[in-house]
Amino acid sequence: MKIQRVPSKWAKTKVILQNQSLSLYVPDTRKYDLGVLKEMLALYTMVYIKPDRGSFGIGVMRAEQRTVILSPSQQKSEMNGTTDNNEIEQQEAQILYILRYAKTAEVFFSPEELHEALQKRIQNRTYLIQKGIDLLRYKDRPFDLRVLAQKSPSGAWETTGMLGRVAAPQKIVTNYHSGGSILSVNTLLKNHMNPSETLSTINQLRTLGVQIAGQLEATYPGIKEIGLDIAMDQQMDMWLLEVNTLPSIVVFKLFPDKSIYRKIHRYAVAYGRVKARKSPYSTRNRQYTKA
Ligand SMILES: Nc1ncnc2c1ncn2[C@@H]1O[C@H](COP(=O)(O)OP(=O)(O)O)[C@@H](O)[C@H]1O
Ligand SMILES: [Mg+2]
Repeated sequence: MKIQRVPSKWAKTKVILQNQSLSLYVPDTRKYDLGVLKEMLALYTMVYIKPDRGSFGIGVMRAEQRTVILSPSQQKSEMNGTTDNNEIEQQEAQILYILRYAKTAEVFFSPEELHEALQKRIQNRTYLIQKGIDLLRYKDRPFDLRVLAQKSPSGAWETTGMLGRVAAPQKIVTNYHSGGSILSVNTLLKNHMNPSETLSTINQLRTLGVQIAGQLEATYPGIKEIGLDIAMDQQMDMWLLEVNTLPSIVVFKLFPDKSIYRKIHRYAVAYGRVKARKSPYSTRNRQYTKA
């Protein structure tokens, strides 16, 4: 039977939100329009805008609302003991809207102007807007985590792989296909937490992979593999940015521990994503499948 793929992020998000405990991991996500843009910028200051059916980080944009003080007279009034804050705000505070995508940054002076620029890129397609997460960083570059869950040959969901992805310089996305680098989860988390916290985070990620898979499978019974994009914020809270139903498996080849990829590949062969390899490993693979 063909493996089921679900391209719409919106459809998958709605299914996950049906589960109350899993909904806690989903950042506020809505369909994009000007009204929602204004509301979400007011709520979160920074938002991500992305194609409903996108991948590889293509078309992903980020909008930020920033208040800047334009004149130095605030300092002067403070020295004079002036307390009329309204006057200061009216005269000096300016709200700017910064749009970033690929390696570009543009500045606008109203949400309407920002919307016009976004609309040019969105055209008539469906885009989503999502609360922006302030990602943890590695060497000053933001990173997120990919968690791979697969149907095992015995029919149970299992989290079989995990890795971290660090954004390329000046990029707002961490995708490998957009120049991101792959590192181990351990390497990325160890600068932010102690070993026992890292271990419990990894266990939580494992459980989440299985739970999200089960939740999606109830609506999409033909799925066999999923890749969760998980963001960790400065409070170490986990957020589910999206779920991929055609996750990359070759990226797991990069790790020195070859047993990880071998298992991922063996499961993928069992549910028919890939054919068994005719490599020196294949005899071993067949033995594993029988076990
Ligand atoms: N809400 C968000 N907050 C912070 N970063 C985000 C957010 N949404 C997306 N990103 C960044 O953009 C990348 C691509 O977004 P994603 O939703 O995974 O779309 P794609 O299908 O193109 O991979 C993510 O891996 C992450 O680095
Ligand atoms: Mg993604």
